[in-house]
Amino acid sequence: MNSQASAPGKAILFGEHAVVYGVPAIAIPLSSIRARAYCKDTAHPLTVIAEDLPRPAVTIGAENFDRSDPLALTAALTMEHLNAWNLAGEIRIRSDIPIASGLGSGAAVSAALGRAIARMHNSDIPDCELSKIVFEVEKLHHGTPSGIDNTVVVHEKPVYFVKDEAIEFIRIVEPLHIILADTGIASLTRDAVADVRSLYEREPAHTAKQFDEIGAIANDARVCIETGAIARLGELMTANHHLLRSLYVSSAELDKLVDAALIGGALGAKMSGGGRGGNVIALVNDRSANCVKDALIKAGTKVLLETIAG
Ligand code: MEV
Repeated sequence: MNSQASAPGKAILFGEHAVVYGVPAIAIPLSSIRARAYCKDTAHPLTVIAEDLPRPAVTIGAENFDRSDPLALTAALTMEHLNAWNLAGEIRIRSDIPIASGLGSGAAVSAALGRAIARMHNSDIPDCELSKIVFEVEKLHHGTPSGIDNTVVVHEKPVYFVKDEAIEFIRIVEPLHIILADTGIASLTRDAVADVRSLYEREPAHTAKQFDEIGAIANDARVCIETGAIARLGELMTANHHLLRSLYVSSAELDKLVDAALIGGALGAKMSGGGRGGNVIALVNDRSANCVKDALIKAGTKVLLETIAG
């Protein structure tokens, strides 16, 4: 049976990095950029082909999979969950989510692959189970993931997330007009997360205070999202960016894009995701959108995406 499955990218609106330490964070799915998995009933044993990824093809059987490879681990954990070791066929992965840019590419590829394997087995995998599988795979990418990426990507809903607590989905009352601008610099979340860990170990009291401030911003932001206080939400985004700078996860390129967006009239702007490279998100209104895009382009970026959340 030929079939397909997919999962979206994501953007963290508030709380990245601090979320690893138990502080709340807010993320939204980016449904217009997706990882897709196309299944064909052909070869035996199950082969996963992902030409755009560092390791473009893996073959998975009961004994021969490599637990250090994200595709193989996703496939093996899904097959284990379904008790379906004898699956045969080919799954081809295509993704339009940029890699290593804070937009959840790894989580989306895993989620799409897990769903595709379940379809090949003529079953479905519940989102909460798939999210657990993607979380295990995220450990390969991130070392100590908080769980926010797998949660938002698998459930494809705006989420208020606190590590190890029940997931809370949030309702966006007033649509959020968001522009994403790409520094074009690939950066590994794992490295940024490790550097924040070293900072925390060197300066625990000061760093914990910064995490708490980020958490307070995320809590305020939730209220703004749920009441439609968009102007205040923008201010909170910019304040969150300054705190991320003080954790040393921003970069000159990210700061330049944040400044350009604000000068262009954005209500707020910040880096999003692991940082160092990747993307800036800017909150705009319909009046300021074109000026902000022009300002970002003049600052040397391409606008990756313009989206309305909610
Ligand atoms: C990565 O998208 C978000 C981080 O907070 C890491 C994590 O939460 O696992 C930087």
